[in-house]
Amino acid sequence: MTRKLFIKTYGCQMNVYDSERMAEAMGGQGYVVTETPDDADMILLNTCHIREKAAEKVYSELGRYKGLKAAKPDLKIGVAGCVAQAEGEEIMRRQPMVDLVVGPQSYHRLPELEAKARTGAKALDTDFPEEDKFEHLTARPKAKRGPTAFLTVQEGCDKFCAFCVVPYTRGAELSRPAERVMREARDLVERGVREITLLGQNVNAYHGHERGLAGLIRELETIDGLARIRFTTSHPNDMDDALIAAHGECEKLMPYLHLPVQAGSDRILKRMNRQHTAEQYLRLIERLRAARPDLHLSGDFIVGFPEETEADFRDTLALIEAVEYGSAFSFKYSERPGTPAAERAQVPEDEKDDRLQRLQALLTKQQRALQDAMVGREVRVLFEKPGRLPGQMVGKSEYLHAVHVEAQGIGAGDIAPVRIESSGPNSLGGVLMAM
Ligand code: SAH
Ligand code: SF4
Ligand code: F3S
Repeated sequence: MTRKLFIKTYGCQMNVYDSERMAEAMGGQGYVVTETPDDADMILLNTCHIREKAAEKVYSELGRYKGLKAAKPDLKIGVAGCVAQAEGEEIMRRQPMVDLVVGPQSYHRLPELEAKARTGAKALDTDFPEEDKFEHLTARPKAKRGPTAFLTVQEGCDKFCAFCVVPYTRGAELSRPAERVMREARDLVERGVREITLLGQNVNAYHGHERGLAGLIRELETIDGLARIRFTTSHPNDMDDALIAAHGECEKLMPYLHLPVQAGSDRILKRMNRQHTAEQYLRLIERLRAARPDLHLSGDFIVGFPEETEADFRDTLALIEAVEYGSAFSFKYSERPGTPAAERAQVPEDEKDDRLQRLQALLTKQQRALQDAMVGREVRVLFEKPGRLPGQMVGKSEYLHAVHVEAQGIGAGDIAPVRIESSGPNSLGGVLMAM
């Protein structure tokens, strides 16, 4: 019997990857993915716990399924991901209609849990099991895929930044052995993938290859048909010499790096337990840019961390001025129960709002300036899908800018040179050049 599975994904790219793998695992149970909860036999929310708002979204989303569940008592509702890990049984108490809870390290057991839930019992698994879940998951299907894919190579975090829940929800740092990553990468390429983004909560702490992440990247470069390699997210302290050198030497490694710093004040960096200073971060950027002068940088910032003063905040603005980011994500500090920073003196909400606005104004200005500077330049675009207008194709430049062109004869998966002619709020426009 075919059943329908609706998965809604929140949070980071690692959750996107996990959702794919969970859908594949449920495929073995006769489930096919549906795009709407309305006709689903099972609804699975793959959740994020990083900020308070992210976690609350889960409960309000669950509330919306009450009617569906009442109309179809056979409908099973599951919660996966980081809220599942952090709140486990609490979720079932708050929302009794939840049948199944599964943490990010135990979702290879999802088929068993689903079978248990089908008997009418509640099913919960938030273990950090000994076995490698990737080895216990169903083999990936052979179906053709789009040109880009995520591939998780590292999970977990041992850094314990004072604000962050990830070390608690995802557990200790673990790396997948290089030969297994290579096998999965070859398989993705055979199915049409041209760009792989290697994922990890601390991807540059990867040690599944004897020469670390740089070693893995160099091995991936040997796969014919794989054109582009990216990786995210990195911690400044795990950026070793080999990886810096790879940015200058590996042709398939794209010149874009997400390297969060969170703040520019040494006092705050110390209280955040980031284990480096602003100056060390700036030196690191210098070395990366020496290896790859056109490197586009991206970052994450938190404003209003406990005890952050106006002067501390200005240090963050000064660091941003010094780096010039091509893109960035910024957040107001959100208190997370159980993390050290939640116990400290909080910055008033209106202050956080004000700082976030000023920070984002500066980041947007930099982003626009760098994007506008692309006009007149030639980039290579990996085309992904048709654009909004007829005859349009959209893809990404080496620097991860969205680029649209009007072109005949270009398909998803093609890589072609494009001259940039316009710069809009969210994307660049260009014309295809003779290849
Ligand atoms: N491993 C990655 C980031 C994981 S979380 C790293 O170390 O960079 C993604 C981003 O969410 C973080 O970089 C941080 O900017 C933000 N974040 C994490 N915890 C937060 C909190 N309690 N409040 C606000 N933002 C937070
Ligand atoms: Fe969270 Fe820090 Fe680990 Fe990143 S490095 S996941 S911010 S604890
Ligand atoms: Fe969120 Fe968990 Fe990712 S908390 S950001 S889904 S690791």
